[in-house]
Amino acid sequence: MSTNQLRTGKVVRDAVVKLAKGYEGPIKARSRYAPQALIHALEGQPLNTVRGLGALDNSEEHIMYKAIQDLAKEEVTCMSLKQLYVNGKNPEPAHRLANAQFLHRELPVRLSQRAVELMNLPHGLSDVPGVQQVYNCYARYAWELFCAPLPTTPQEEYDYSCLLSSLLLDGQSIPRALSIGLQDFRKQDGGGLGGGGGGRGSRSSDANVDPAVRLDIQEAISRFYTGRIGVRFLIEHHVSTLPPSRCRQGWSGIIQSAVSPSLEAKHTAAAVRSLCMRHLGAAPEVRIFGKDDATFTYVPSHLEVMVSEQLKNACRAVVQKHHPAYKSMTALAGPMSDWGKKECSTVREQALAAQSWSDGGPQMPPIKVTVAMGKADVTIKIADEGGGASRTEMEQLWTYYYTTANKFLVGNANLPDILTGSQDEASTASTGAVQGSAGEVEHPLPPLAGFGMGLPLSRVYARYFGGDVLLKSMEGFGMDSYLHLNRLGHNCEELPPLARNSCV
Ligand SMILES: Nc1ncnc2c1ncn2[C@@H]1O[C@H](COP(=O)(O)OP(=O)(O)OP(=O)(O)O)[C@@H](O)[C@H]1O
Ligand SMILES: [Mg+2]
Repeated sequence: MSTNQLRTGKVVRDAVVKLAKGYEGPIKARSRYAPQALIHALEGQPLNTVRGLGALDNSEEHIMYKAIQDLAKEEVTCMSLKQLYVNGKNPEPAHRLANAQFLHRELPVRLSQRAVELMNLPHGLSDVPGVQQVYNCYARYAWELFCAPLPTTPQEEYDYSCLLSSLLLDGQSIPRALSIGLQDFRKQDGGGLGGGGGGRGSRSSDANVDPAVRLDIQEAISRFYTGRIGVRFLIEHHVSTLPPSRCRQGWSGIIQSAVSPSLEAKHTAAAVRSLCMRHLGAAPEVRIFGKDDATFTYVPSHLEVMVSEQLKNACRAVVQKHHPAYKSMTALAGPMSDWGKKECSTVREQALAAQSWSDGGPQMPPIKVTVAMGKADVTIKIADEGGGASRTEMEQLWTYYYTTANKFLVGNANLPDILTGSQDEASTASTGAVQGSAGEVEHPLPPLAGFGMGLPLSRVYARYFGGDVLLKSMEGFGMDSYLHLNRLGHNCEELPPLARNSCV
């Protein structure tokens, strides 16, 4: 970083801290974090975009957005899985304090970079209300963390960690606002996102889409989600051992030293099959080939979302292609993506009945999961005989919001785990239980498909620590999906370009 940048950073930081300390507005500081009170005070006011700053006086908004812009220019520190493991392993107060101090500097920069990028998206995308909502929210998070006092004692570290935890609570509203914003944009733009132009449940032609616009937007969504995964990862890694008595043997924060991909695949397959049964009334067998005692260091929650997304796709494809109830309904009513609620529940009932009449139900080709442990790579191959996709369709499959699923497969739960990215929500979704308003336990049905996010986001998760997801299709037969992960853990987080790589 240049001396000039350092100086600007310090000037802005001093100005904001002074402003935060000197604030004497209508709201008295309710928490020990004065800036939080300031944010509440600002909430009622229009938070103008950074492009409107020229017309503003030297107001709070001006300072806040100026700080966000300057922070976004600072350099971030990309961490490798190995470094994160080492950093999170030691629960000693001094060590936690050092980690918290690192986050205190790092998180406002990462959040500001994402906010500034969203403010400056091409093709007028930044003007869409849903997108504005997201960048205002990110700017406020960045500001709040930027102004929070630097923790210097174990008690302050605890308070700071509580503040970080509170940011994790909101797993739903940001992906939801972004998705609504992008859908609104798509309507204005006549399909510029390149997803299903007819909305969920339809295969669309991409003929009218400007490929340059489509690519820009797809890349921007990828960068946003990569950044978001990184921020949530750092926070969760730190706060998961709060209090330190929550430290688990063989774990460092949310990283496990010896994850067995084969065992993880078994657990995930059981959960996905049960979800598939609930949605479609049937589920294919999943056979796993791999040694349970072959392990590597990784983040089990990330592994679970990636494997689960591939398995959900495979299960759905196999049932819809091979189950007699779906085959005969498709012959009568056309492709399942066009069915209404009545057709869906009829065929589901038929599939359920067929399952219970005969031993084991109608035969469907099993899904084969093969786990290979190399010296450098761990590969999980998921092979199904669900008919695959044509070569021309293959590129579309990686497009955000592209789906061929019937809208009834989205279920009645909130967004899928892969979109919310929250550990707590992930565990809620897999058990499917939430506390209702009257205190009773409700069981919402998590989605099987329908958001068009499973493939592109699982690739973002895999690439985050240097892995990848590849698909190989044989149209008319089936799909092979390869999930490649880095075994050695020395790859740095793959952060978006604004975040320069400074891995040490
Ligand atoms: N194994 C597969 N076999 C055949 N088609 C597949 C397979 N996996 C994905 N697809 C196709 O790719 C599309 C996009 O998949 P993706 O997982 O991104 O979204 P989705 O499953 O429709 O919704 P969700 O975001 O809930 O996962 C699917 O709708 C389906 O048409
Ligand atoms: Mg999917």
